[in-house]
Amino acid sequence: MAVDSSSSAWSQRFEQGLHPAIERFNASIGFDIALLQQDLDGSVAHARMLGACGVIEPAEAEAIITGLETIRSEAAAGAFNPALADEDVHFAVERRLIALIGPVGKKLHTGRSRNDQVGTDVRLWLRAQIDAIDIDLLRFERALLDQAERHADTLIPGYTHLQRAQPLCLAHHLLAYIEMAERDRQRLADVRRRVNISPLGAAALAGTPVPIDRRMTAQELGFAQIYTNSLDAVSDRDFAVEFMAAASLVLVHLSRLSEEVILWASEEFGFVSLSDRCATGSSLMPQKKNPDVPELVRGKSGRVFGHLMGLLTMIKGLPLAYNKDFQEDKEALFDGVRTVRDCLEAMAILFEEGLEFRPQRLEAAACSDFSNATDVADYLVAKGVPFREAYQLVGGLVKTCLAEGVLLRDLPLARWQQLHPAIAADIAEAIAPRQVVAARRSEGGTGFEQVQQQLQQIRSRLGRAPQAT
Ligand code: ARG
Repeated sequence: MAVDSSSSAWSQRFEQGLHPAIERFNASIGFDIALLQQDLDGSVAHARMLGACGVIEPAEAEAIITGLETIRSEAAAGAFNPALADEDVHFAVERRLIALIGPVGKKLHTGRSRNDQVGTDVRLWLRAQIDAIDIDLLRFERALLDQAERHADTLIPGYTHLQRAQPLCLAHHLLAYIEMAERDRQRLADVRRRVNISPLGAAALAGTPVPIDRRMTAQELGFAQIYTNSLDAVSDRDFAVEFMAAASLVLVHLSRLSEEVILWASEEFGFVSLSDRCATGSSLMPQKKNPDVPELVRGKSGRVFGHLMGLLTMIKGLPLAYNKDFQEDKEALFDGVRTVRDCLEAMAILFEEGLEFRPQRLEAAACSDFSNATDVADYLVAKGVPFREAYQLVGGLVKTCLAEGVLLRDLPLARWQQLHPAIAADIAEAIAPRQVVAARRSEGGTGFEQVQQQLQQIRSRLGRAPQAT
């Protein structure tokens, strides 16, 4: 269906075809073919509306819709392969339609422009992708939840400044990422509301004298509203920026989790082991097993942040209304969506079957440090010692212990009583790591009971059966 440039789509005002390099530079068909289904959907809705409004004959609308569906079948059979000279998916479809059904095909573009058409296509495409990403996020959350269930009793050191701080329940740590993913879902649902508005019928920029019904096409295409202002309709790309910002936060969360997994998989931490299905070896060092999956996720986050900056920069200087600069939104969106979806899938698989926590290593780590020091202070506070005073006393004790190479749990009662006469034998129990975790009963804290409550809430939110006890 290639057309030579001299017979291009332009009106008779043009005498010469495009310079071949400019033709290549100008064309978007190489990537916007991804919008084919949405372009067909939008055109079917437009043709039906033109028929219903009496702009074209019902039989003409019928013929156009049949032609458009033929193109859909051709594409499914791999037989629709536009050429560079088709410029973009919109022209490619229109030309093929005219070739298929003859001059009546030339009536399809009545009362519309490629400007409102491309805006319609991109919104339909992005809306479907947001719905797919929501499902990807749910799978990722369920993978985290299942690991959390398995480790509702496992301890892990908790860090601030990447220094051991206080021991945690491992499930609590994993559930924090479910909270982030849940905010990601909410943000995307909110973006979707502003994606789901129809620009169709704004025409080139000013509307059209053709008696169209914008609400009819909007309804057929499942849009919740129509744009109020035709100029805004064809020149709004806020939704693309909003989507990329929401996608960037998804990647921020995945990248932070990736960084943790990479640390945990190191010899130094040894908190997880990676399964062969999700790790790779070194071409040189036979002993190595590398965490490529989280590393790639961490690395790919940069692309999505880059697209966000690219979109903002592309839009910021554009006068109303449509400008060809907008053609640049597509590759950003396509790559951004693919990256988010690939990363969510890879991380879900990693947590489903790609890594195993090592409870003994975790427990040993959580028990062999001074991360129960706060609890000595809390113990003294419970005996009426002012917190700041208790804090000073315990700081001094930690200093001596460090010098002697012993842990708090190694101290005999006599030493404790030297520190403060109010300390009794129950100090040993009070600073045992499991007790330290259990004691953090404040709402949202890491105490085992709190974590059980959180698990239960998340289970029902994610449609997971209650755990057998
Ligand atoms: N390929 C174009 C794009 O992606 C379609 C709209 C072209 N409109 C125009 N007036 N040249 O934005």
